Amino acid sequence: MDKIREFKEKTLSIGNVNVSPPTFLAPIADISDSIFRQIVKRFGGVGLVFSEMISSDALTRGCEKTKLMLRFEEEERPIFFQIVGKDPERMAMAAKMIEDIGADGLDINMGCPSKNVTKTGGGSALLNDLPLAGRIIKRVRKSISIPLTVKIRAGWNENSLVYNEIGKIAQEEGAQAVFFHGRTRKQMYSGTVNYNWIADLKSRLNIPVIGNGDIVDRETLLKMLETKCDGIMIARGAIKKPWIFHSLLEDRDVEVEKLIEIIEAQFKKLVEFYPENLAKHKMKLFLSWYSRSLPHGKSIRLKLNDAKTTEEVAEILVKYKSDYYD
Ligand SMILES: Cc1cc2nc3c(=O)[nH]c(=O)nc-3n(C[C@H](O)[C@H](O)[C@H](O)COP(=O)(O)O)c2cc1C
Repeated sequence: MDKIREFKEKTLSIGNVNVSPPTFLAPIADISDSIFRQIVKRFGGVGLVFSEMISSDALTRGCEKTKLMLRFEEEERPIFFQIVGKDPERMAMAAKMIEDIGADGLDINMGCPSKNVTKTGGGSALLNDLPLAGRIIKRVRKSISIPLTVKIRAGWNENSLVYNEIGKIAQEEGAQAVFFHGRTRKQMYSGTVNYNWIADLKSRLNIPVIGNGDIVDRETLLKMLETKCDGIMIARGAIKKPWIFHSLLEDRDVEVEKLIEIIEAQFKKLVEFYPENLAKHKMKLFLSWYSRSLPHGKSIRLKLNDAKTTEEVAEILVKYKSDYYD
């Protein structure tokens, strides 16, 4: 556990951005919006937060829903935004737009396994076209002066592991850190993260390598730190428990009742900020994830499908609270 104490005191510099402790809230589509990032930030223990991934095509074409993703508050800093796409020019334009709104750094998504993204040639599809991946990094690097990072998976499948190649390319083209989810695209989220791949990449690059995958408690945090990675990133663990960074570093959990309070406040903000349909979608999504940390959470999930409005989703939480906590 001394290792965790030592880690907690570290500062990682990515360009001119100091990250202390070197812990990162991952980019999480539909989840890591400004409202959620503020919740995670307030618990403490997180050194830097990421936006959800932003389509470079949608952003540069002026899509209104995408513009909502650019919102952030000063208290969220330092904050990196992530873009996804395959066209170097559009990626560069999107990167500049993000620099102009005041982001502290920009990340390129080269890991997303979702079919919706890979069929357009972005995300982990770029692991199959390393020359194009290199051109994108180079072009984006030229368009901005804030720190640039790349988030990768190990390769398309086990027979095409390219993490060392893409890591080298990223470093040579001017990226200042690599975030590495130690799975292949084919694995999606199955199996377990491969710590050896992360240790291998870390031993070969001069820029920081941040380890990502399956960190949910102090044991898995220690396993990740054994790779000698420079920092750690968490996604799913943080959706289920937004206080995970605090609890990992301080070895203290938070009462479940606190989660109910957080959800109530978050729901109010979601309704205020988003159009009805998007707010309803997000409320359902969050409640489904959070319910995995709540006792009798299944009773919540069973009702989610039938909720037709934001009020009906909110009512599920009210009912849960009165059934189990009042
Ligand atoms: C619901 C969901 C949405 C995600 N969205 C993104 C995203 O927008 N960009 C990205 O690079 N990775 C995304 N990821 C991958 C995570 O950032 C992370 O790499 C992966 O979940 C492994 O970390 P974990 O084991 O801590 O969850 C997403 C993962 C999940 C579960």
